[in-house]
Amino acid sequence: DPEETMKPRPPVVVVMGHVDHGKTSLLDALRKTNVTRGEAGGITQHIGAYQVTTKDKSKITFLDTPGHAAFSEMRARGANVTDIVVLVVAADDGIMPQTIEAINHAKAANVPMIVAINKIDKPEANPQNIRNRLLEHEVIVEEMSGDVQDVEVSAKEGTGLEELIEKINLQAELMELKARPDRDAEATVVEAQLDKGRGPVATVLINRGTLKRGDTFVVGTQSGKVRALIDDQGKQVKEAGPSVPVEVLGLSGVPSAGDMLTVVENEQRAREVAQYRQEK
Ligand code: GTP
Ligand code: NA
Ligand code: MG
Repeated sequence: DPEETMKPRPPVVVVMGHVDHGKTSLLDALRKTNVTRGEAGGITQHIGAYQVTTKDKSKITFLDTPGHAAFSEMRARGANVTDIVVLVVAADDGIMPQTIEAINHAKAANVPMIVAINKIDKPEANPQNIRNRLLEHEVIVEEMSGDVQDVEVSAKEGTGLEELIEKINLQAELMELKARPDRDAEATVVEAQLDKGRGPVATVLINRGTLKRGDTFVVGTQSGKVRALIDDQGKQVKEAGPSVPVEVLGLSGVPSAGDMLTVVENEQRAREVAQYRQEK
């Protein structure tokens, strides 16, 4: 899109790290809600997508990812739509397999990383040890004269959260993230499933343009017409712009995470393109 049509957009931040290091708890604390109460200590099943409004009224889109080994593919897809990775490392544990995997995803995707050293409320927490161990993986934090920002946090006690938000905003400002809102939408599927009552449902992140109710689209080998858009609060919305995560209803079938959703001129065209892709 031409530069003059671009508008600033919120950063998309993916929260990664080893299983149980506190990714969901940290996001939960940032949102100050309790949606994860039921799963704390359990396994995060899907990528969750939420938008947080900060004190200065700026917005940040967060994607939660499961740390469980079985979800490697999902994390790889998450890294693709990401502007910034927040790497959560539990200060009482250490650099674990999914910590290393997250570091490798961020490096491969050339995405800047911010390290959140979590659980510093624990008596056995040793943040300096984490910094030393990160060094072995060529992640050199500011404290050690490197260029990776790090912040000590406790999702449990709510410490360090403002500092984390500040560091995300600082990083985002440097990146001058922009997208054109006034065009047909392009979005990325972050998760999708068949819902008993609602049919196929996809959570998408808008890359550019604005997705509207009634839009016809192709997504992977599926097509559809937007019957409803549901935001991260569970509310129906008429449209969603750049960096906004939204649930889409009205799909012909369940697409795959990572698929691109593209708006096309009409339903016939959407079906034709989907059909063509299915035959390939
Ligand atoms: P997966 O999604 O399964 O990979 O785990 P996760 O990284 O999302 O971790 P989760 O938020 O589920 O937290 C795991 C456990 O650590 C839970 O029992 C949390 O209550 C606990 N926990 C998370 N953050 C903190 C913290 O800052 N301090 C302490 N003491 N416990 C924490
Ligand atoms: Na967990
Ligand atoms: Mg989780």
